[in-house]
Amino acid sequence: EKGGYAHFMLKEIHEQPDALANAIRGRLDFNLGTSVLSGMGTSPRELAEISRIVLVGCGTSLHAGLVGEYAFEDLANIPAEVQQAAEFRYRNPIVSRNDLVVAISQSGETADTLAAVREAIQKGAFVMSLCNVVGSTIARETSRGVYLHAGPEISVASTKAFTCQVAILLMMALKLGRGRRFSREEGMQLAKAIESIPDLVARTVRQSDHIAEIAARYAKNEHAFFIGRGPMYPVALEGALKLKEISYIHAEGYHAAELKHGPIALLEKDTPVVALACDIPGKDKTLGNVEECRARGARILGIITEGDHEAAAVMDDVIEIPRTHPLVATIPAAVALQLFAYHVANARGCEIDQPRNLAKSVTVE
Ligand code: M6R
Repeated sequence: EKGGYAHFMLKEIHEQPDALANAIRGRLDFNLGTSVLSGMGTSPRELAEISRIVLVGCGTSLHAGLVGEYAFEDLANIPAEVQQAAEFRYRNPIVSRNDLVVAISQSGETADTLAAVREAIQKGAFVMSLCNVVGSTIARETSRGVYLHAGPEISVASTKAFTCQVAILLMMALKLGRGRRFSREEGMQLAKAIESIPDLVARTVRQSDHIAEIAARYAKNEHAFFIGRGPMYPVALEGALKLKEISYIHAEGYHAAELKHGPIALLEKDTPVVALACDIPGKDKTLGNVEECRARGARILGIITEGDHEAAAVMDDVIEIPRTHPLVATIPAAVALQLFAYHVANARGCEIDQPRNLAKSVTVE
């Protein structure tokens, strides 16, 4: 049932080109330069009334929401914020009728996310879900939603759900953007970039053996830092979460600018720093932060855009991802880090699909 793979996690990483193709299929309209997400069940007029977006979720789904926050603000010009679902549920959140609350949950059963949904419905928000499991509680309780169509995710470490969540959030942002400041031409360009996601991911997954060789060099470390800026900041958080949950290496994700405000004190000779340094706005600043880490003797693994010699020159190791739209690039970058975490954990002999202390879905608070 693992289809010849040693673990479900590796199988699910490799399934991503197909999972993403399923998540995207039939949902892009190249004529109008927009997306078709019928599950949102909204008329253009209703969409025009949305004045704020609140994304709620936990763990990896929360990280997808953080990428979505960038997408909604950047592409659709709509103020967006992310709240940890438990925080949303207990803080007595301010929600108004023109707010769109998007609950993100692979399983559709996470207790805190479900409670956040109920709270948002109580407060009269317009509530939508992004779930993978069809007919799950969150999917049922939200009258509108978009399914990921990623296929069953068995591994406790979430992989294909994350990339499909991000792809759908980008399509939602495209749709909302087209209703606002996006021209048809701009919409078509983004739609094309989204359409290319399965191919970008296939090219990244093909580097699995190369990533395994790199990972072997990091398997003996007990600490690691992940840094990124802009939409790559949530990818850094996700890379750190993946590594810690399956390899038990203490991993922290930081905004690259935040290093100097404390964490850099922990860098020693050979401390691994994984830098999300793809060629997107802010890259030069990230490369500057990499230099600061190098000066403390850190060992740098760069996730960079293919052919970027400038970035490669300051790294000890590199994983290259294809050049694409900056928000779309988050997806192959995340896949590279999934493979890195997997191969590090495998080299350490960890039980990858069932990490200690973790459950696939957290149905208690
Ligand atoms: O099913 P959900 O997306 O609601 O699950 C949320 C988190 O429990 C989940 O993403 C968790 O963080 C994963 N183990 C991460 O790999």
